[in-house]
Amino acid sequence: MEKKWWQKEVIYQIYPKSFYDSNNDGIGDIKGITQKLDYLQSLGITMVWICPIYKSPMADNGYDISDYYQLNPEFGEMSDLDELIEKAKVKGIKVVLDLVINHTSDEHPWFQDLLQNPNTSQYRDYYILKTGENGQPPTNWRSVFGGSVWEPLPNTDEYYFHSFDVKQPDLNWENKEVREELYKMVNYWLEKGIAGFRVDAITFIKKDQNYDNLRPDGVDGLVKCTKKARNQPGIEEFLHELNDETFSKYNCVTIGEAPGVPYEQYGDYIGDNGYFSMIFDFRYADLDVASGSEWFRRIDWNVLDLKKLIFTSQKEIQKAGWGANFLENHDQNRSISKYIKEEENRNFYSATMLGAMFFFLRGTPFIYQGQEIGMTNFERKNIEEFDDISSIDQYYRSMKEGFSEEEALHFINLRSRDNSRTPFHWNNKQFGGFSEVKPWLGMNENYTTINVEQQKQDPNSILQFYKEMIQVRQSSEASECLIYGEIEPILEDHPTIVAYKRKYRNEEVVCYFNFSSEDQKVELEHSNFNVLLNNYETLSEQISSLKPYQALILQKKEAGYNE
Ligand code: NOJ
Repeated sequence: MEKKWWQKEVIYQIYPKSFYDSNNDGIGDIKGITQKLDYLQSLGITMVWICPIYKSPMADNGYDISDYYQLNPEFGEMSDLDELIEKAKVKGIKVVLDLVINHTSDEHPWFQDLLQNPNTSQYRDYYILKTGENGQPPTNWRSVFGGSVWEPLPNTDEYYFHSFDVKQPDLNWENKEVREELYKMVNYWLEKGIAGFRVDAITFIKKDQNYDNLRPDGVDGLVKCTKKARNQPGIEEFLHELNDETFSKYNCVTIGEAPGVPYEQYGDYIGDNGYFSMIFDFRYADLDVASGSEWFRRIDWNVLDLKKLIFTSQKEIQKAGWGANFLENHDQNRSISKYIKEEENRNFYSATMLGAMFFFLRGTPFIYQGQEIGMTNFERKNIEEFDDISSIDQYYRSMKEGFSEEEALHFINLRSRDNSRTPFHWNNKQFGGFSEVKPWLGMNENYTTINVEQQKQDPNSILQFYKEMIQVRQSSEASECLIYGEIEPILEDHPTIVAYKRKYRNEEVVCYFNFSSEDQKVELEHSNFNVLLNNYETLSEQISSLKPYQALILQKKEAGYNE
């Protein structure tokens, strides 16, 4: 694969509402990000992806946009964003924004006009409208956030379509005028000097035009809409056009949120002429729940299962192009709470082992805010404490499916998107230094022990380890190999050790990760190596085993190098 600038980046994901509140209204903001640029620079990251900051009624925290050209006042003004982009650039940090073009908010002027003039609006064909039959919605498809995908359009016998929440009507991509409006907007932002986009829910833009019913898969009589409204044949035309009319005109990076793409199609998405620079593969992040969206259908898994998912993903991406590797994001629970099953094993070693295991995979690494200090899930006692619309839906759906209230609460505590959305822990003062007033979402109570200030002073902290890890990838003698090298899994059948090699020209780096709380015997690939990274302080001369949750990154020395 030809080298591309974005392969070298290390991307830090910011959930702006929860990063840093500069004006003490309880909500994080753009100025807050600018004020923390020194912190981001000290980490060593090279780019930030900021979740949506556009004008929005915030039903889905910004993924419901009511004006694509304006910012939400609670996040700041356009001049704040300009300032952030400029100051970040001086520090060597690029800015990537979120692009939400499958749907708008129902408060977008196009939809508002439709509501006011349902029969005559010039925006009728901007959304997906269908008439119901016998008082029933047009199909029995379930939206991602629960309930039918169809919502009655008031004062008509029509319904509008929403893949996600009722406040997020899907745009009609079959309409060229809609597509052109969107391309114009994409180019506006790229002209502004952002480095690119993370592209939201992009595999949802094409729907099966037959709009027929399917066999229900739940007691609600509905069936997941993804079977008919995600990655449907014909999507390739839209994606080619989107790329031709926008991204390809700029030297930008695009990261597709593209769930549901079979590996056979990865070449179309991320190959040399792919629609995107890279896409996220969610298969391993969702290993604990059925199809990623049914939190009450828990799946038990072991390290071998995880390994298989990661390596299959890596091999397929390597065949096709380039990947976007992540452990956490704003839709996932915290990784240490997910991948390290026993609470007593959630510690410095397991957090750094996990961090390094994903960080040195082939692809561009993403770090989600708080991951670098080992932030954890936050258990809530009551449904009222949740903000996330998806958690609330999953709670009631679990009970409809026959689970008790207690079980329902347990499922959402494990999986809630609010787990990763709690305000960032800057220090151990009130509200974790995030704000001086009560934040919009309850703080995780462990901010007094898990926070940046404390970890900055501790040379053996998770934060320091992340800094070293980034430095090893970005500017060590093994950088080229760790960035561009091929990946080759090793010890594939080992029940608790995850290991792989990165190979570039005649260089080789071998990475070992012990997922067990006990020592594990291991036979190393090479006897002659440099230690690039180790999450334990000491290393015996002869390594014959890995310590509990040890991570070891070893660079092979040339034969005879040390003689
Ligand atoms: C994916 C985003 O990551 C998620 O937060 C959002 O709710 C949905 N897309 C809908 O936009």
